[in-house]
Amino acid sequence: MDKIRNFCIIAHIDHGKSTLADRLLEITGTVAKRDMKAQLLDTMELEREKGITIKLQPARMKWKDHELNLIDTPGHVDFSYEVSRSLEAVEGAILVVDASQGIQAQTLANVYMAIEAGLHIIPVMNKIDLPAAEPDRVAQEIGNLLGVDPLSVGKISAKTGEGVDDLLDRIIKDVPEPTYEEGPTRALIFDSIYDGYRGVILYVRVVSGTISTNSEITLMQSKSDSLALEVGHLSPARVEDPEIGPGQIGFITTNIKSVQFARVGDTVTLTEDQATSPLPGYKKVQPLIFASFYTISQEDYPKLKDSLEKLSLNDASLSYTSENSAALGFGVRIGFLGLLHLEIIKERLEREFDIELIVTSPSVSYEVMLTNGSTSRIEQASDLPDEALILSIAEPWVRGEIVTPSEFIGPVLSLIIEARGRQTKLEYFDQSRAVIGFEAPLAEIITDFYDALKSQSSGFASLTYEWDRYEVGDLVKVDILLGGEKVDSLGAIIARSKSEVYGRDLCARLKQLIPRQNFEIAVQAAIGAKFIARENISAVRKDVTAKLYGGDISRKKKLLQKQKKGKARMKQIGKVSVPSSVFMDLIKKA
Ligand code: GTP
Repeated sequence: MDKIRNFCIIAHIDHGKSTLADRLLEITGTVAKRDMKAQLLDTMELEREKGITIKLQPARMKWKDHELNLIDTPGHVDFSYEVSRSLEAVEGAILVVDASQGIQAQTLANVYMAIEAGLHIIPVMNKIDLPAAEPDRVAQEIGNLLGVDPLSVGKISAKTGEGVDDLLDRIIKDVPEPTYEEGPTRALIFDSIYDGYRGVILYVRVVSGTISTNSEITLMQSKSDSLALEVGHLSPARVEDPEIGPGQIGFITTNIKSVQFARVGDTVTLTEDQATSPLPGYKKVQPLIFASFYTISQEDYPKLKDSLEKLSLNDASLSYTSENSAALGFGVRIGFLGLLHLEIIKERLEREFDIELIVTSPSVSYEVMLTNGSTSRIEQASDLPDEALILSIAEPWVRGEIVTPSEFIGPVLSLIIEARGRQTKLEYFDQSRAVIGFEAPLAEIITDFYDALKSQSSGFASLTYEWDRYEVGDLVKVDILLGGEKVDSLGAIIARSKSEVYGRDLCARLKQLIPRQNFEIAVQAAIGAKFIARENISAVRKDVTAKLYGGDISRKKKLLQKQKKGKARMKQIGKVSVPSSVFMDLIKKA
């Protein structure tokens, strides 16, 4: 026990976490230099390509007679639940800050989480080999943030390996040894993955007792029994051990068939000698945003369902329900942790499963209070009950922080107000950089807030946020009518203050997208019975054969045939025929 140290690395995205993990594995001889490839712990193709860590990944190393267990964690805000899970399994955290950038928003979020988890933090500055590094300024920033002497902030280059030996020594010296608990076996599941050949593999931190190969195990919360087919540690490949014991981080290969039955946060105990109570575990993660996925070809729909099922074997945070849209056919509505999570799932479906997709722009869920005293949760405008029955609508709010160079404070504050948000804090690290606390409706943050922030700050500001609460807002449902007929799939819940602009934009875009027909069409936006925008599509008489002079009758027939086929892909909204492509164009970027 006194020879075990468990730690993780936390950092803002791109500050060098994965590169440091590589160096640690290399310097401790865990991975031979010839087998070393960059970002070894990023095992997914997408992770390597994007250069980001999505899944947490454990690895055990030996250093000076000690066993060091590292958990590499993702840096992006969408995956902070992965970080929080790792933090519960370790006693120390190496805080990596890029010496050329200084503290960024996700640095703060991670530090708060580590402090809350009671971890010992070892701060280091990375990339000191860069000419742009400002070690003195950044050490001061970190010193102020953690309340420590700037001289105690380590200096490393994860790229060249400089300072990494000292860091390893410091982990042994400073990270507390794991606390020991007496009594029956209890191990916390901090992750689970699905392996097509072996079934579910649990990543656990053992708190008390031991688990051996062939132990009969029970998951205490889900009350399911299983067999430990194999136990061991990750180095970073799986290495079988006779048993795993107190303080250790390891894996258990089970005969469980889906990660849905092996929830993270559950406690593993021995079936024969059960613990009386489970470990505290984790909160279940709730999806923040929702989007519908449709296949371009309806024949691919079963494939989409099947592929999603496969992906969710490995991603317990993925939740979805089937739906049927009048305009686009069968599809699935999926809940995500954030925009990056959405993008990753979309890319994986397209690449790994070869499905062409149409994805609606993301939306949030609303809490609708009804006049009869009940509350219902809805995810799209078409599910909103009749206006007369609604007392109020509440939308999700997030709380977050933006780190920015001081000269952009003004534009950043304007952005927050534009996003219907409020500033809650303004503090300076030093004269040149500040942190702004804010809260804002999530719906505004997921539209183009991040892009606007980057462009307003010449790319220098960074953002982190987390779900906070539902708050009643002045929200309205904007309906779109074509030829006086309401189009359900185009309705949206919008802040009243932004509803007119929204309605006008959408009408103007529809006017451009819908082909003229042989009668005039009114395109209208309305809130309840009140119209807020209108465009007219003027009439045209269209004869596709008119431009064909001469008597090539077969060509004429062919064209008419083509026109007929074109009609088949039309949706009829009252009298108006709308090509399906209009809906696709609209939902792709609302
Ligand atoms: P996520 O996995 O997305 O959270 O990022 P990360 O924090 O793991 O960053 P990563 O290790 O991928 O490094 C980001 C970039 O910085 C890469 O291009 C690295 O090669 C580079 N980098 C990391 N450490 C150093 C260093 O010490 N010096 C220099 N010059 N570059 C470094």
